[in-house]
Amino acid sequence: MRKLTGHIFLIGFMGVGKSSVADELSRKIEKTEIDTDKFIEERLKMTIPEIFEKKGEEYFRKCESQILLYISQLSPRVVSCGGGFVMNPLNVKKMKRIGTIVLLKATPESIYERVKDSTDRPLLNGNMNVEYIEKLMNERMPVYEKAADLIIDTDGMTPNEVAQKIDKYYSSGLGVER
Ligand code: S3P
Repeated sequence: MRKLTGHIFLIGFMGVGKSSVADELSRKIEKTEIDTDKFIEERLKMTIPEIFEKKGEEYFRKCESQILLYISQLSPRVVSCGGGFVMNPLNVKKMKRIGTIVLLKATPESIYERVKDSTDRPLLNGNMNVEYIEKLMNERMPVYEKAADLIIDTDGMTPNEVAQKIDKYYSSGLGVER
């Protein structure tokens, strides 16, 4: 059993609602929120699609890893991580040292409904359909699940309800199952 202590890293597939849950949770537990995508965009003064196009995905992934160095120097935060953040095992190792990882899950269909009108996710541009989302999700899920200390199925839940569930573990000091 692990307790939800230190930074709380919210991970999961694009469009699962990490940012909305982070907003609610940071209010509830009175911890500042960091959104890794927004952080990188602000630092580079470029949008995520521009970074992918002009600098390449590899560069973006390096920026993601560098954020951890910065976060490790801060008091506990609620960190909403881009969907590929934990695909780097070194990131996971560092995240485990400084906090706990909460995986948010949803079906490919509900993810599709949330992302279908957006063009700000380079990996989905040109691949905006349930089949592709399901394929990429299946590839990533074993890594997501292995990294996670707590897993929440968010289908049918509001961001506030998801945040409440995380808060229950966080505030009570209850151990999480994994
Ligand atoms: C990505 C997810 C995006 C963003 C980038 C790459 C991914 O973040 O970091 O487009 O590889 O899954 P969200 O999960 O917040 O959409």
